[in-house]
Amino acid sequence: MVVVGQGYVGLPLAMRAVEVGYRVVGFDSSEDRVKQLAAGESYVEDVGNEELGAALASGRYRASTEPRSCGGFDFAVITVPTPLTERAPDLSFIEDAARTLARFLRPGATVILESTTYPGTTEELVVPILEEGSGLSAGEDFHVGYSPERIDPGNKVWTFVNTPKVVSGIDPASLEAVRDFYGTLVERVVTVSGTAEAELTKLLENTFRHVNVALVNELAMFAADMGIDIYESIDAASSKPFGFMRFVPGPGVGGHCLPIDPSYLSWRVQNSLGRSFRFVELANDINDHMPDHVIRRLTTALSTQFRLAVNGSRILLLGLSYKANTGDVRESPAVAVAQLLVGMGADVRAVEPHIRDTRDPRVSLVALSAEEIAGADAVVLLTDHDQFDLDLVQREARYVLDTRFRLEGPNVERL
Ligand SMILES: NC(=O)c1ccc[n+]([C@@H]2O[C@H](COP(=O)([O-])OP(=O)(O)OC[C@H]3O[C@@H](n4cnc5c(N)ncnc54)[C@H](O)[C@@H]3O)[C@@H](O)[C@H]2O)c1
Repeated sequence: MVVVGQGYVGLPLAMRAVEVGYRVVGFDSSEDRVKQLAAGESYVEDVGNEELGAALASGRYRASTEPRSCGGFDFAVITVPTPLTERAPDLSFIEDAARTLARFLRPGATVILESTTYPGTTEELVVPILEEGSGLSAGEDFHVGYSPERIDPGNKVWTFVNTPKVVSGIDPASLEAVRDFYGTLVERVVTVSGTAEAELTKLLENTFRHVNVALVNELAMFAADMGIDIYESIDAASSKPFGFMRFVPGPGVGGHCLPIDPSYLSWRVQNSLGRSFRFVELANDINDHMPDHVIRRLTTALSTQFRLAVNGSRILLLGLSYKANTGDVRESPAVAVAQLLVGMGADVRAVEPHIRDTRDPRVSLVALSAEEIAGADAVVLLTDHDQFDLDLVQREARYVLDTRFRLEGPNVERL
């Protein structure tokens, strides 16, 4: 089989397929990534070097940038990026991947899209490219399906194998092929009747999360100004055994999913129906402004408690990635906070054990030490990585703004 795209989604999938006995080509257009994979170096936290090494040693996995390596596949899964370019869905990576696969498509083969995208993509975009490039007919000669990815980077409880997988096909035979394929990889598959339903499932899941995060973020802003401890209210509400789901405020949303996927859906709704998806617009607005709120809280504290301006102050940021225990800084609100502070003239230092450099010379990477903490005018906890020694932070810091609700004490303010 072929997995097109060896990133956060494609590499774990390829490793699992090797584990259960498939011969797998990990096709990726990035020379750097393929070189690293061939050298046994994984850049995805959920895949250890040992696991990658074992896959290479089995002789059933190889990574390649060479399109010809895709030849002869029975199953191909597309896991390429789906970003927003100029605020609109950019499906060019899916188009490229489908064009490559079309050249090597044979009767009886199955092509599955896993990239997150708006409803209609599989049937309206992928199928025509596959048919045109291969001269074959979808449904009659080959199978096509869509299966959304639910990977939660860093989650040790819900893994690729035990998280139920939603599957779909463009017709009953395709659905059967896709269902049986994933049945060899995961514990439970959930079938839906069409690819658009499967595409919408993923966007529903992410929009649900996005909107609920925005709800508690907006509440956190009110509560702080009203002198109410929002976290205590969230804890209390969480004791309700039905009809409530716990979400916690934070400095904003990041990663490849929440800041982007809901906009795929609102774009599609606007484009095909001429209507706006107001929940998504509102949630975007609130979540996008959370870094500004962090800055407002910090500025107020520095000024009222220490008679300091941000300009010239030394600020230590704990965490730059968008969530705990990963090094994924894509769309990270912590990075936005760092940039805002730099723009205001602060001396910004960051502790981020999961990355090698900040890619911004104005933000220096430092180790978490008593000296760094005590030397800062303010510390901001932005990402609650397990390896942070929070007792040390609480003991040594002059002032901490805690955006993750992990610290308590006279020197701590919560977002
Ligand atoms: N990261 C997540 O947690 C997550 C979760 C669920 C769904 N998704 C979705 O899965 C898709 C992939 O996300 P990701 O995080 O794995 O992205 P990624 O950027 O980590 O990996 C994508 C890979 O595809 C390669 N690529 C791009 N175009 C290519 C082409 N034409 N041919 C071959 N390789 C190509 C890139 O070089 C890259 O290595 C996206 O649609 C994303 O929304 C991601």
